[in-house]
Amino acid sequence: MTRPVLRAVIRGSGSALPERCVTNAELATQVDTTDAWIVERTGIRARHIAGDGETTSSLATLAARRALAAAGIDAAAIDCIILATATPDQTFPATATIVQHNLGAHGGIAFDVAAVCSGFLYALTTADALLRGGNARRALVIGAETFSRILDWQDRTTCVLFGDGAGAVVLEAVEVDPADPAAPGIIASRLHADGAYNDMLYVDGGPSTTQTVGKLRMKGREVFRHAVTNLASVLEEVLADAGLVAGDIDWVVPHQANLRILDATARKLALPPEKVIVTVDHHANTSAASVPLAFDEAVRDGRIKPGDLVVFEAMGGGFTWGAALVRI
Ligand code: UT7
Repeated sequence: MTRPVLRAVIRGSGSALPERCVTNAELATQVDTTDAWIVERTGIRARHIAGDGETTSSLATLAARRALAAAGIDAAAIDCIILATATPDQTFPATATIVQHNLGAHGGIAFDVAAVCSGFLYALTTADALLRGGNARRALVIGAETFSRILDWQDRTTCVLFGDGAGAVVLEAVEVDPADPAAPGIIASRLHADGAYNDMLYVDGGPSTTQTVGKLRMKGREVFRHAVTNLASVLEEVLADAGLVAGDIDWVVPHQANLRILDATARKLALPPEKVIVTVDHHANTSAASVPLAFDEAVRDGRIKPGDLVVFEAMGGGFTWGAALVRI
């Protein structure tokens, strides 16, 4: 056996959605849109919208509890919580510390990551580095959002696209033989950002500029174009890092923004559509929550199994984008 190395292994996952589900037909009674337009352009049929009392931290806490239960790990054993969100409960403290308190975990690392729709990839990669560096043993990585609260409900070009929710994974640092192709854990990950595009997808307010929360604005067509190119190239990068090819992948768990982006990216890499986990139809775009929500759904329905090679990918405001290759 070659010298063992530490890897961050996914021990369990969980997710949570607001109680209220809103269909396209219901939205069409409030804004000038149709079910046919939304389905044809995006693949979205419904989304969950947070009600009174449902917050980013409450959804994140529920998803985290379910992930801990699936992992069979007690909250007290968690020494790192990284929460990706663009819709924190408050500007500060970090929503991660609220979740930490809710879970009854104390004293470990807890902070938020702001990378919008790529937030889960940024959080996962950061947790991976902390675990491999010996700064923590067991981490909760959470993506949680209440985007409904930053939408302009008069703007049909954006308000029909997003939803609320949370997803979480428990990571544990485990010694593995790096030469063993079946060894579990995060094998490779790549992150990118290009701030030259930060006016393509943004919120038009904030504490330091307008002192208001602001509303989401997006140049959808431009974002679409960049998404397909950036996602295909970052997927190729992680595969090359691991010395693997697209045909080795069992499952792609993409950021769920638009079914047409998912299809176009899969086509670019010659990946069969049946290997792509799709939840955008019933979750819409839940930003940082979308990848862990989709992952948890596919684990719970038995599609993703131990031993599978899974790739996560996402692209969002900034622009930010990234991918991670994980053996379950
Ligand atoms: O999560 C971060 C990443 N975000 C994304 O990846 C989003 C990327 N972008 C997209 O998914 C797509 O660009 C959209 C779904 C946002 C828009 O689809 P599109 O095919 O690019 O449509 P478009 O913006 O070119 O608009 C086409 C038409 C326009 O009408 P005209 O100018 O052709 O008369 C829009 O006004 O569709 C109209 N339109 C709508 N009609 C009915 C825009 N929104 C709606 C709507 N209902 N909700």
